[in-house]
Amino acid sequence: MTSSRPLLVLLWFIHVTIPGLTEGAGVLPDGLNAAVGGKVMFTTTPTPGTTFQSVNWKFGAKDIFTWNVNNFPALGYEDRITFFLSTGSLELRNLALTDSGEYSVTIVPPGERPQPGNTRLDVYEPVSNVMVTSSSTELAEFSSVSLSCSSSGSSLSFLWLNSSSEVTGSDRVQITDGGSTLTIVNVTRYDQGPFRCRVSNPVSEGTSDPVTLTINFLEAQQLKMEPEVTGYLGEEVTLRYQFIPGPKDDIISQVQWKLKTPEGEEITIIVSRGESGVSVPETFLKGRVKIAEQSLIIEDVEMRDAGSYICSVTAFPSGAFEGTTKLVVKEGLGAEGLGSEGLHILAKIITAGLFVLIVGTMLATTLFIIRKRYGPVPSD
Ligand SMILES: *[C@@H]1O[C@H](CO)[C@@H](O)[C@H](O)[C@H]1NC(C)=O
Ligand SMILES: *[C@@H]1O[C@H](CO)[C@@H](O)[C@H](O)[C@H]1NC(C)=O
Repeated sequence: MTSSRPLLVLLWFIHVTIPGLTEGAGVLPDGLNAAVGGKVMFTTTPTPGTTFQSVNWKFGAKDIFTWNVNNFPALGYEDRITFFLSTGSLELRNLALTDSGEYSVTIVPPGERPQPGNTRLDVYEPVSNVMVTSSSTELAEFSSVSLSCSSSGSSLSFLWLNSSSEVTGSDRVQITDGGSTLTIVNVTRYDQGPFRCRVSNPVSEGTSDPVTLTINFLEAQQLKMEPEVTGYLGEEVTLRYQFIPGPKDDIISQVQWKLKTPEGEEITIIVSRGESGVSVPETFLKGRVKIAEQSLIIEDVEMRDAGSYICSVTAFPSGAFEGTTKLVVKEGLGAEGLGSEGLHILAKIITAGLFVLIVGTMLATTLFIIRKRYGPVPSD
């Protein structure tokens, strides 16, 4: 008993000299946490086998329970308190948020100095109904989305999960409102989640249902062109491009075609500036080229038209895109030419064959009749 007194004095000294210290001191443990509707046990640590002269429990400055041969609970605590005479401990039940605060005890052993103790109780409303709502669940890539987490309970801490890993803030990902709002400033196609919100307080925790985002994304912005196209002398040939726009609602402000000749010379052959019209510089192609829907048409193809055709599309605000198609020029005996020519030859062959067949048949028939009428030709 006497040996523990200096320690108690020391603990009391620490408690009164270090402001903000809420740990238990004296015969009571460190701070306690409990849930609304639950119970808490204030367990004292006196020397075993001690008998008391009196025990007094206080909530703040207010007496809540006194033992002095008999039990004396304060008004409003009668049904909520169980006192353990063997230790001086106290159980408090049916807790409310208003039970949070400082509790102290004074145990008076017979003929000795009173033993004080104090601690802090924090009562929390348990976490329940954790829910995530999204500003939208179907969105376009590079747009933004906000997920907000709501929950019942007190003193809540929020944590966001992306699949099974914790979401951390970055340039693109902001966590605000005490952690309850997750904003993805610039959504990527990889942000579909599922996202869940985990809420906790010192007495409980809960996790929301998962929320999955559908992110619509476009193919990368680009200019697609056929690598090679064959044109035939005197015919018309079409060089096509396909402009795949980005997410930025681009406006095409200019389409320009240049020819890189086999000698490596680059000549501008046609420029279309949308509303302000088409200009065709003075080249050997002038009068034979025109621009149509995402294509360049060259009429009456000549041998010297062969080369690499470079198309540049200027889009606002994205910038310029370029693609190249190689034009190969062949003689008139192209697929089409060979077709009609071949057909002519075939017709001639068939006609000739038929003629030979008819003549042959007639000849054979005549020979047969002659033989029958005049008998076998005599041989000598
Ligand atoms: C969004 O991210 C993409 C790819 O990281 C980037 O190209 C684009 O500039 C960003 N947009 C905004 C508005 O930050
Ligand atoms: C979610 O996880 C995916 C896959 O690991 C990752 O690519 C994406 O950037 C994450 N998004 C957020 C908002 O954390």
